[in-house]
Amino acid sequence: MKSKELTDFTQQYRSLIEQYLQQYLSSLTGNPYLIKAMSYSVMAGGKRIRPLLMLAVCQDLGGKITKGALTAAASLELLHTYSLIHDDLPEMDNDDLRRGQPTNHKVFGHAAAVLAGDALLTNTFAWLASADLQPTELLKMVEKLAQAAGAQGMVSGQMSDILGEKKKLTLAELQRLHQQKTGALLLYACQAGTILAQADKKIEKLITEYGQAFGLAFQIYDDILDETSTTAALGKQVHKDQAEHKNTYPGLLGLDGAQVSLKKAINRANQAVSQLQQLGYDCLLLKGMLGYFAI
Ligand code: IPE
Ligand code: IPE
Ligand code: MG
Ligand code: MG
Ligand code: MG
Repeated sequence: MKSKELTDFTQQYRSLIEQYLQQYLSSLTGNPYLIKAMSYSVMAGGKRIRPLLMLAVCQDLGGKITKGALTAAASLELLHTYSLIHDDLPEMDNDDLRRGQPTNHKVFGHAAAVLAGDALLTNTFAWLASADLQPTELLKMVEKLAQAAGAQGMVSGQMSDILGEKKKLTLAELQRLHQQKTGALLLYACQAGTILAQADKKIEKLITEYGQAFGLAFQIYDDILDETSTTAALGKQVHKDQAEHKNTYPGLLGLDGAQVSLKKAINRANQAVSQLQQLGYDCLLLKGMLGYFAI
């Protein structure tokens, strides 16, 4: 159940994030076809969970949501959208529908989809680096984001996911894959929130525990939804993972087993929240965000 605090927060900041994205894309002066392809996927909707999570951590830790913070948050959505455009390519998951609309390569062609992804990834860093924040904060964020997105993080997870189509992974391997392909960016969102709030090491450690658990839960839940939800509700094709021979939690543990793993991850996140509460942070938003996992 969503708290009033979280509902108000989400409404307010989701629309600001949309505005920031729209404005940024309109300011770009490159090849018009490329910018059209980039804007198509970014502005197709999406829950904006990563930017919201970053801002929620910042606010729950007593930080101020400044224009710089909003830029940092919105820039993450560019990178996430690149990951979706490439994830949908025929060479990867071969999907036709994303965010309720035909996938980027279906509309703009494969080459443009690859290039729109490339540009979104690169421009993420240009936009982030331009944010009105302290240089030391910015540098930390740029480093953490590059690590989360790159060869030790999301891209690594995507590689394991693709190679995994030809073999059955163990639970430990699958957990690692999920922490990388999806967890890494969600963890970055949380860590960037602590940087924005200028939180100390002790807090950073608890937020990292929360972020890791949230990230794992997010992909387990995505795997579950692929089996239990509908195309209309998700805006993407369902029952797709088994057809593509993906390693997933329901595939390995059954739906019930996947639910148990999801609950365990949510409990871990809740434990981190309790510890933060003992330190005097009410964490209403972070607690509320765990309500995303309707179980
Ligand atoms: C989808 O992410 C890809 C995964 C990492 C599971 P989201 O579920 O956040 O997708 P959007 O941004 O709302 O479209
Ligand atoms: C995607 O995981 C993770 C990314 C890095 C984009 P999935 O392949 O399960 O995401 P969906 O189900 O296509 O959104
Ligand atoms: Mg995939
Ligand atoms: Mg996919
Ligand atoms: Mg999926």
